[in-house]
Formats: sequence, structure tokens, C-alpha cells
Amino acid sequence: MCHNVFSGLYFHSAHPIVDLNRLFVFPVDVCTGAAADAELAEAILSHQFHPSVLGPESWEGYVFSDLEIRIKESTDLYGAVLWPSAIVLCHFLETNRDEYNLMDKNVIELGAGTGLVTIVASLLGAKVTSTDLPDVLGNLLYNVARNTKDRCKYIPVVTELVWGQGVDKRFPRATHCFDYILAADVVYAHPYLQELMDTFDYLCQGNTQILWAMRFRLDPENSFVDRFRQRFHVEELYNLPSLSIKLYRAWRKDKGSKDPKDAAE
Ligand SMILES: C[S@@+](CC[C@H](N)C(=O)[O-])C[C@H]1O[C@@H](n2cnc3c(N)ncnc32)[C@H](O)[C@@H]1O
Repeated sequence: MCHNVFSGLYFHSAHPIVDLNRLFVFPVDVCTGAAADAELAEAILSHQFHPSVLGPESWEGYVFSDLEIRIKESTDLYGAVLWPSAIVLCHFLETNRDEYNLMDKNVIELGAGTGLVTIVASLLGAKVTSTDLPDVLGNLLYNVARNTKDRCKYIPVVTELVWGQGVDKRFPRATHCFDYILAADVVYAHPYLQELMDTFDYLCQGNTQILWAMRFRLDPENSFVDRFRQRFHVEELYNLPSLSIKLYRAWRKDKGSKDPKDAAE
């Protein structure tokens, strides 16, 4: 018998603020084999918990690497809110830590927002440069410092990176070579999609892998992916219709370029 399940809704309904703008709830047809999607989505979202006692400061809780992570959000800025794509990317990093071993790797996060991905990558041993717009950096630094202090091999660096603006001066290729570029929910209806593409293009060198969790909302997102595929090889790692999120791995498409994963083996 066919029926629809509304994956995700049950999870967020435990929270006093049910934010349906952030967690799109798509009907999933179990008959089309979407049960696996629902199961994975449930595993991903189970990393989150809510404080049992409300204190003077509000925060959202997450568990990764067996550690409790507390994230402070603010509703007045996009970047000060944690988006579900970030949890998806963190789940992938944690559950695939052998294949995508971040220990001692140089990692940059674009549009880090509240910092969950930066924090999890740091807990997994990476040297992380966490970047975002200037307005977001205060809250980002607060979350990163509070959750990584005395827990990580390398202290993450939080710094400004406005897509397309002076990226070559801030991150000269001669001294900045990243093994991974991490990005969660950076593609949506904003006017800097070309600048974002150019930033991916500049930072992604021959040995760099991009791990990018993408939330699908409107057509501009689809056309961004099409244009992205012209420059990069793209592998789909997760497809989660119930969350409208896909996770991609990408690497340079230049002539003669090799998959960095194969090159490392
Ligand atoms: C939807 S939020 C995602 C935040 C975080 N990655 C997450 O998944 O929770 C998009 C992020 O991109 C950042 N952003 C938007 N436009 C930007 C730009 N032109 N340059 C750099 N960062 C930008 C925002 O400040 C915000 O942190």
C-alpha cells in the first residue's frame, strides 16, 4: 500500500519553534523506494537535540564525534541560523571519516554561518579556515571557539571571505593549498552566484576536493549546478529528496586533471 511520510517534521516538531522555512518537508512516496532516504534523513537529523532546560542563552545542540556541540543562533541574519545542509555534510564527514580522512588536512569552509561544519571538521583533525561575511564572523567565532577549545589538534581560523572579492590576495595560491573545500547551503537566490562560482574555481586546485551540500529550492539552484558541472567533475554522494538536499563531491575538470581521491591512493 502506498502512503506518504513527512520525513523530518516529526523531528523538528519537538522544538518549540518549528521553522518550516528551513526544513522543507516534502512528501516522500515510500513505493518509489524512498524509505532509504527517510532512514538516512532520520539518522542525519538525530544528531540534533534541544536543551531540556531553557537557560538565559538559547542554543541548539548537536552530537558529533561523541561530543556535544552547542550552537548559538540569531534570527536576524541568514548566516546566524543553522541550515539542515550543514548537518547533512557533518553526518557525511563523520560517517566517512576513513575514506575522507580529514586528519592534518587543509580545509576551507565557505559561508560557514554558525560554524557547525567547521567545528566537526576541526574535531576530525583538520586545519580549518572558516570563512563568511564580516557581519557573521562574531557569532561564528563565538561558536567555533566555544566548541573547539581544548578539543582539537588545530585551532580553526575564522576569517572574512566575501565571494569574488580579493580572494587571490587573501589566499594566494602559492601559500594556500586546500585539500578540501566544504560548503553547506551556499547556493540560493542571492546575487553573488557568479562570484561564488569564481571563488570555488580559484580555491580549487588540482588536488582539492569540494564537498558541497546543496539545498534545492528554485530554478536558479538547478542552473548553478549545470554551470558548476561545466567546470568541475561532480559525483553525487547523497540524494535526500525528503530534505531537498544533495551532497556533491567535485574536483577540477581541466585537461589532464585526475580525481584527487585516486591520486592519493
Ligand atoms: C544559507 S546560509 C548557510 C550557512 C551554513 N553554511 C549552514 O549551512 O548552516 C548561507 C551562508 O553564506 C554566506 N554568504 C552569503 N553571501 C555571501 C557572500 N557574498 N560572500 C561570503 N559569504 C556569503 C552567509 O553569510 C551565510 O553564512
